[in-house]
Formats: sequence, structure tokens, C-alpha cells
Amino acid sequence: MRIPEVVHRGVILLCQNKVGQMPKGTPEWATRLRSPRAHVDRVATLVTAITTRRGDLQRNSPGPEPCTIVNFPMNDQPQRKLIIAIDGPAGAGKSTIASRLARKLGYVNLESGAMYRALALKAIDKDASLDDEAALVKLAQESRIQLEPTLGGNRTLLDSRDVSSRIRERDVTEAASRVSVHPGVRAWMVAHQREMGAGGGVVMEGRDIGTKVFPDADLKIFLDADPVVREQRRMQQQKIKGEVAANLAADLRERDRRDRTRAASPLMAAADAVVIDSTKLNEDEVLAWVEQLVSRLKK
Ligand code: DC
Repeated sequence: MRIPEVVHRGVILLCQNKVGQMPKGTPEWATRLRSPRAHVDRVATLVTAITTRRGDLQRNSPGPEPCTIVNFPMNDQPQRKLIIAIDGPAGAGKSTIASRLARKLGYVNLESGAMYRALALKAIDKDASLDDEAALVKLAQESRIQLEPTLGGNRTLLDSRDVSSRIRERDVTEAASRVSVHPGVRAWMVAHQREMGAGGGVVMEGRDIGTKVFPDADLKIFLDADPVVREQRRMQQQKIKGEVAANLAADLRERDRRDRTRAASPLMAAADAVVIDSTKLNEDEVLAWVEQLVSRLKK
């Protein structure tokens, strides 16, 4: 029996009302209820429900003591895998929140900006003009850009080459901002991003996820912060000071300006997005807020 069937049919194994500590002889499917994390949470919720509705239970007791197999009458639907969009300007903390949230939910974190960066890198490598929309679209069509979530963070592959670090460098960052203004490039990106997230179970971050890529996303967050605070966060992240830091601040402001003023899908909060201003909040506080929003959806 596969885990989702077990959980959705409401048949679970209770071990002294605790999930975990499965004794020897526990059926294989029941031991697997312990992972992944999402299922454990689900089972824990059921256990609570069961303990409060003990009278309704129909018991079989084929399980090895002290476990009991319980058929729990549920009308519950299989848990839907959500699409969560996190948009906002650079330095607002999107990447950290998106990756921590995805890890907690057992979802995939897709960083759409990495795709624009990968295309920008290809344009640099091929000496293509960053103003030539048709050439950039052709380049995109000829490219294979993959986002690969791994335990150590997301990897970006361009034509099977790992470019995860290279795309964070200053020239690529600047070029990514320029390639992203072209409607043709955006259309190509959006089509691929929709394919990647279509099955749900994703936290996708970017600039237009809630407005264009997934306008029907289950949850849309627009994460913002005061520009000066965003600049300071970036400087601390990169441990830079002086002239280098001043250059970074200037770059960030210019990218912000370009993102917000471009004609195609400018950076803006979707009308139904929850706007979180993280100026005075730390990472844990923002994450707690977002998790609360997610848990409301699941009820
Ligand atoms: O999030 P980031 O800094 O890695 O994004 C790199 C560039 O790509 C950024 O200048 C804006 C652009 N971008 C975009 O236009 N739309 C997205 N969904 C993601 C990124």
C-alpha cells in the first residue's frame, strides 16, 4: 500500500497515540508513514483528531501490540499540492524565505531569476547583443536551462553545465536585468516556468510569478523592504564594504528601477497578494507569517 492511499483512506497505525517508535513487526507501509515530513504532519493531525473522537472509531487490531490499526471515517480529500508565488525586489529576502518554506513543506523551490541569469550568461558567452530581442529569444530556444533542487541548495544548469556560481557574478546580474525587459524573452520564460510548476508542490520566486506565471497561485506573497535595508542586507551577505559596497548599492537601485518600470510585466504586487514588508522583521518572523498563511489554506 502506498502512503498517500493509507493516509487518504484514513487508515493509520496508532502506536500508543504517537507517530514514530514503530515496534518490530510493524507493516512496511506504516513505517513509511514517518516520512516524508509532510505525511508525518498529516498523520500527527489525524492522531489528534482520533484521540478526540475515540468513540467514533472502528477498530481492527491486527497490528503488533501496542499498535492498533484504525479505520478513521474521513471525508477528507487528498491533500492538494499548492503553488506558492513569492515576488518582490532584489534583497527583500525572497530566496531565503522561499527555500526555507519549500524545505519545510517538502516542496520544490524554483528560482525563476536563475533562468534569466542563465540566458544572460549564454548571451555573454555568445557575444549576443543584450538589446537584440529576436537573437535572445532564438538563444533561449536553443538552450537547455534546468533548475535542479538539491539538498545543498538549487543548482542551475545551462546546456548541462553547472553555472550556479557563475550566474551570481556582477556582469551576469547586470545582463539578466537587461535581457528580462524583452517581452519575447519573458514569454519563453513564462511558458517554461508554467511547465515546471504545473504539478503544484512548488514555491516559485521571482518578479511576475503572482501576476503572470501563476495568476491563480494558491498563495501570493509580495515581499518588500525599505531600499536602504535591502542594500545593507546584500552588503552583509556578500561581506563587502567601501567602494565595492557602494557599487552594489548603485547596481541594486538600477535593477530595481528597470524591474519596476519595464513595459512587459513590471515588478508589482498582484492585486490579491499578501504584501509583507520585512524592513523591521527578521527571517524567522517572515517565515512564521508565511507559514501561518499556508496553514490557513490547508484547513
Ligand atoms: O531574482 P534575481 O535577482 O536572480 O533575478 C535576476 C533578474 O531577472 C532580475 O534583474 C529581474 C529578472 N527577473 C524577472 O524579470 N522576472 C522574474 N520572474 C525573475 C527575475
